Amino acid sequence: MTVEAVINLDIDGPRINRHVYGHFAEHLGRCIYGGFYVGEDSGIPHEGGIRLDVVEALRALDIPNLRWPGGCFADEYHWRDGIGPREQRPVMVNTHWGGVEENNHFGTHEFMALCELLGAEPYISGNVGSGSVREMSEWVEYLTRDGDSPMARLRKANGRDEPWRVRFWGLGNEAWGCGGNMTASQYATEARRYGTYCRDYGDNRLYKIAAGANGTDYAWTETLMKQLGHLGCRRVTTTAFHALSVHHYTLTGPTWEDKGSATAFDTDEHYRTMVAAARIEEVLAGHAAVMDCYDPTRSVGLVLDEWGTWFDVEPGTNPGFLYQQNTLRDALVASVHFDVFHRHADRLVMANIAQTVNVLQAMILTDPDSNALVLTPTYHVFRMNRGHQDATSLRVDLRTAPPSRPVGDTTLTTVSMSASHKDGRLLVSLSNLDASSSADVEIDLRGGTVEAVEALILTSAALQDHNTPGSPGAVEPRLHDGAVLAGGRLRVHLPPHSFVTVTGGLAT
Ligand code: AHR
Repeated sequence: MTVEAVINLDIDGPRINRHVYGHFAEHLGRCIYGGFYVGEDSGIPHEGGIRLDVVEALRALDIPNLRWPGGCFADEYHWRDGIGPREQRPVMVNTHWGGVEENNHFGTHEFMALCELLGAEPYISGNVGSGSVREMSEWVEYLTRDGDSPMARLRKANGRDEPWRVRFWGLGNEAWGCGGNMTASQYATEARRYGTYCRDYGDNRLYKIAAGANGTDYAWTETLMKQLGHLGCRRVTTTAFHALSVHHYTLTGPTWEDKGSATAFDTDEHYRTMVAAARIEEVLAGHAAVMDCYDPTRSVGLVLDEWGTWFDVEPGTNPGFLYQQNTLRDALVASVHFDVFHRHADRLVMANIAQTVNVLQAMILTDPDSNALVLTPTYHVFRMNRGHQDATSLRVDLRTAPPSRPVGDTTLTTVSMSASHKDGRLLVSLSNLDASSSADVEIDLRGGTVEAVEALILTSAALQDHNTPGSPGAVEPRLHDGAVLAGGRLRVHLPPHSFVTVTGGLAT
């Protein structure tokens, strides 16, 4: 069966914000320590303790931003504990994640150095749950204030003369849960208060992101939008925050205690995972619809600052460290999410996968024994799709019903697609979620000319295949000869469980 579709190359959709390819790094398990940061005494090549092979791998993704320090950890993080000479920094207990000691050796300066090495914008998640307005306000001053002031002097005393530029600023995290167990209206009041005292210094402009809903809690978004309000006096108006977030994880197992294995799963579980991943469309559309009522001009951004698969931890690892392997199934979860992100480019300004290294749906796994670094199948989807960053979205309209299959009490569409153009190049992404059947797609490319297409494919013999230090290239992209352009039509063959990208020169 061939799926027929149309792309009007001369009808531009909204720009796909590069920040939907964003990342998240929490003080959790081996994400920071052993992942990004190995310390200055390490034998692993590093700069200031930051692992250079990790930096190099992430730079190849054009990583646009990095959210830090949490997550749940953010609401018990006190930034002053993480500045100054490392040996004098106080130790705390990371109560959320494994109850381990946190020595604060990776703090503000280390994080900003990491962002500079990555060429990524920092996204700092401030502490609302157990912090104070003053503490957050002073952190902004410490980071961004030029000239003479108490916090600027403290920063200089710690070796950094110039202020950093910080745009993305989170007002807490999951305020409905680990971030303080607040009601929506309690949190909205707090967000307005905290937001008021996070100042813009010099020409640094904060983009304040309120902690949003859990999954489909649209009432939370409604409360925040109602109370976003316009602050200020006389005719000077401003809003306490510029965006609100939502978190949505892909969960497959029947219960939280039984989320299923990341690698040992059957075909039914695969399909349930795909259904859960595709639900992101409903989640984003639902929040966007609520926001549209209060903000029809779409000036308030929607930020999905945590997403990805969440399986049981690998056997024998600390349950609080959330370490899981990453298979071709995870890659398809990512590709489906990106198709949805591209379709919601008019409201979605950022998305951050959880989490970059060694935690949940990671890009990179590091082996604690050999120190080897493994790029996951999810990493390859980010790499193959990076041309969509800041590109102009193009709609992919179906002319025939796509293949689908029943899964439980719902139906899963098994072919997913999205497209964009940038710098005179078309990029089409196509996923076949079917575990055993191939699919063929024929796209009528109207309103322009496409030349010399090249295709890459990410697939493997089994959905469960994954990369390990002993077999780092088990799942990696290769050239695909199944994409053919003829008479303005692009025919693409999609083997079972595969992800394909097609690029070509575009003239409209
Ligand atoms: O990403 C792991 C955790 O999931 C984060 O700390 C929290 O915000 C979410 O519940």
